[in-house]
Amino acid sequence: MRDQAEKTDTRIVHAGRDSDAYGGGVNPPVHHLSTVIYPSVEKLVTRYDNITPDSRVMTYGTKGSPTSFALEDAVAELEGGFRSISFHSGLAAVAGALMAFLKAGDHLLMTDSVYFPTREFCDSILKRFGVEITYYPPCIGSDIENMIRKNTRVIYTESPGSHTFEVQDIPAISKVAHLHQIKLLMDNTWASPVFFKPFAHGVDVSIQAATKYINGHSDVMLGLVTTTREDWEQLRNCTWQLGQCSGPDDLYLTQRGLRTLGVRMKQHQNNGLQVAEWLKSRPEVRKVLHPALPDDPGHALWKRDFHGAGGLFGIELEPFAPSMVQAMLNRLKLFGMGFSWGGYESLIVPSDVQKDRLSGSWHFEGPLLRLSVGLEDPEDLIQDLEQGLCELAPQAGSPS
Ligand SMILES: Cc1ncc(COP(=O)(O)O)c(C=O)c1O
Repeated sequence: MRDQAEKTDTRIVHAGRDSDAYGGGVNPPVHHLSTVIYPSVEKLVTRYDNITPDSRVMTYGTKGSPTSFALEDAVAELEGGFRSISFHSGLAAVAGALMAFLKAGDHLLMTDSVYFPTREFCDSILKRFGVEITYYPPCIGSDIENMIRKNTRVIYTESPGSHTFEVQDIPAISKVAHLHQIKLLMDNTWASPVFFKPFAHGVDVSIQAATKYINGHSDVMLGLVTTTREDWEQLRNCTWQLGQCSGPDDLYLTQRGLRTLGVRMKQHQNNGLQVAEWLKSRPEVRKVLHPALPDDPGHALWKRDFHGAGGLFGIELEPFAPSMVQAMLNRLKLFGMGFSWGGYESLIVPSDVQKDRLSGSWHFEGPLLRLSVGLEDPEDLIQDLEQGLCELAPQAGSPS
């Protein structure tokens, strides 16, 4: 058991590692595994006897290995939960968590600012399996109580919201959820376990798309779900029943990436803020959607609950014509255009959220862009954006 007073940076380095078990090596082995051999028939038939929530059993390739346990234990410790289990992508982790805690006839309250493929999963598969879904405005806070039905079993949060970056009042929502015996799920990918501690704020089940910051190198797809002790068996059993598991090389690379998460997050934060503040001063930019900026509507909640901000934020441009925005994006040299985020390299994509959301839940007149600010020198990134914005500059003040 580790010293509870240890700081996050220390935990990032040591959590989940057991050099004695690795023959003295610093890192866990990459354990390629399907079959586990038992020394006797007695051991084979009793393999699940005496299993408790604390047990780590190695019975078959889908049920974990020293490589998966090392990563899962590290993430559970950093998130502040009891145990984690890995999935082959962030979206698989989202789907696995929702399936573990919902059944036909249940009602799910889902934030309207959710990552779009999560919404698609709800509207297609969950609906098909008889789950009712209501989308709620992300900034609803404790008023979510008015939307609870007799059959509401899960409230799902993602803070800040995908592409629009609304900060949710997780403690207020948690209080209401627990008053009604409802499970509170959260997608905590934006902050990573470094900048938000979900279990300290009343979350029951936390999801990480480790594809993003935890791995951080844009070369792995992986997700993790962490729970309280109370919720662990339900999640673990459902995950096992689904046959969910991840490949050892991806698990290994993710725990390798995790060891530098602390320094990377600080650098993402610094670079992101420097770029965001510069963008705020530009006439082509109408709004910067970044909760760490003091005039952001979510700033007070972010300051109260988060320890920092990564490099992912949005901007609303003045209402320039789409062809001009395309020309601007095509000029960029350092910002790559592509989905995903949280890697060491900077990315930018246009956001088209208006069609997916409840009408009236938010309002933007100009085109939205999402930036994932990487680990390059922020002065070079600013220069890249500046030469891109030249496509818009002559029209600044007289858009479209
Ligand atoms: C907030 C959030 N959650 C989950 C996911 C899904 O992760 P993955 O791409 O690993 O499936 C993403 C992916 O972009 C995301 O942005």
